[in-house]
Amino acid sequence: MVRPRPQIDTIAMYSPGKPVEELKREKGLSRIIKMASNENPFGFSPLAEEAMQNEMKEITLYPEVTSPLLAEKLANKLQISKDQVLFGNGSDEVIRLLTRTFINEGDEVVMAGVTFPRYKTNVIIEGGVPVEIDMQNGTHDLAAMAEAIGEKTKMVFVCNPNNPTGTIVEKEALREFISQVPSHVMLVMDEAYYEYADAPQYLETLPLLPQYKNMVILRTFSKVYGLAGLRIGYGLMDPELVGHLHKVKEPFNVNRLAHAAASASLDDDDFLYESIRLNREGREYLNARFSDMDLTYFPTQTNFIMVDVGVAAEDVYEYLLNEGIIIRPGHLMGYPTMIRVTIGQREDNERFIDCLQAFIKDYSRQS
Ligand SMILES: Cc1ncc(COP(=O)(O)O)c(C=O)c1O
Repeated sequence: MVRPRPQIDTIAMYSPGKPVEELKREKGLSRIIKMASNENPFGFSPLAEEAMQNEMKEITLYPEVTSPLLAEKLANKLQISKDQVLFGNGSDEVIRLLTRTFINEGDEVVMAGVTFPRYKTNVIIEGGVPVEIDMQNGTHDLAAMAEAIGEKTKMVFVCNPNNPTGTIVEKEALREFISQVPSHVMLVMDEAYYEYADAPQYLETLPLLPQYKNMVILRTFSKVYGLAGLRIGYGLMDPELVGHLHKVKEPFNVNRLAHAAASASLDDDDFLYESIRLNREGREYLNARFSDMDLTYFPTQTNFIMVDVGVAAEDVYEYLLNEGIIIRPGHLMGYPTMIRVTIGQREDNERFIDCLQAFIKDYSRQS
């Protein structure tokens, strides 16, 4: 049999949140509540829908390779140069491009112990060595991460806010950490949930880009903009780094509909702010119900919450599946009694809480 490179034997296929269609088929249910993949439950901008309809006429033509119009629009909005922007087929692709372009065999990459799994996978694929640093209370231990940076370190990932815990790192600690990363080590700040973060302790990294030419900021249209199915995310970084990545990326990595929808979404601040507001309402509701139930949870700055249900996460997961609710069990992420739940629409949050309460009541009666 044809054998893959040895690195491929050590990784597993990405395990996504259970798809709605799959659960419908399995359980014969007509309505499913998906609270598993941190998508936007409030949809996406109507302006994006209109823009995609118009763009359909052009679909026979390849998209532009460097997304120049979208780059200019985004750059103007962020008050940076368009040469600092690189779009990917989701920020997933930008992560892959970074490791593809910069990691040599044997290079070490420092990251948090429980964080977005694609960092580790892509590092391994390139023959790099992930160096995973234990979390402190669901949060990156920046001091330990700084200490782990050594001669072989080529890259560092900080996921802020972090997936799956939802936590942020404190402003001053992060500022200090950024200054400690040597200039020949790339610092990747993954800010996929940036728009949701409203704590005063959250650091704005964009103004630091000119000073730290080794820093890359990742953001996406998949979360608050609601365009996960289209696959478009981006990296912000020094133009020289963008130049390297452009040589490695597939030429037509971002499709025409994604360009059109992302561009229109940037014009719709009403949709953006309403999504953020509704998410905040849902976050407050779920936090309050968890506290009523004496459940502890990590303080979240995202559109999901990781809560300790005090029983085996697989059992809660299975129970909720039978009720047509998909969440993420924490045992796959190193937290065996925690579940990660995406903040949903109000009635979905309420139904989730009702089912969770019923499960915990049944469980304590049985034990
Ligand atoms: C922290 C983080 N980074 C990156 C991604 C990838 O997002 P996308 O490829 O949809 O832009 C996700 C998706 O869940 C994420 O949680």
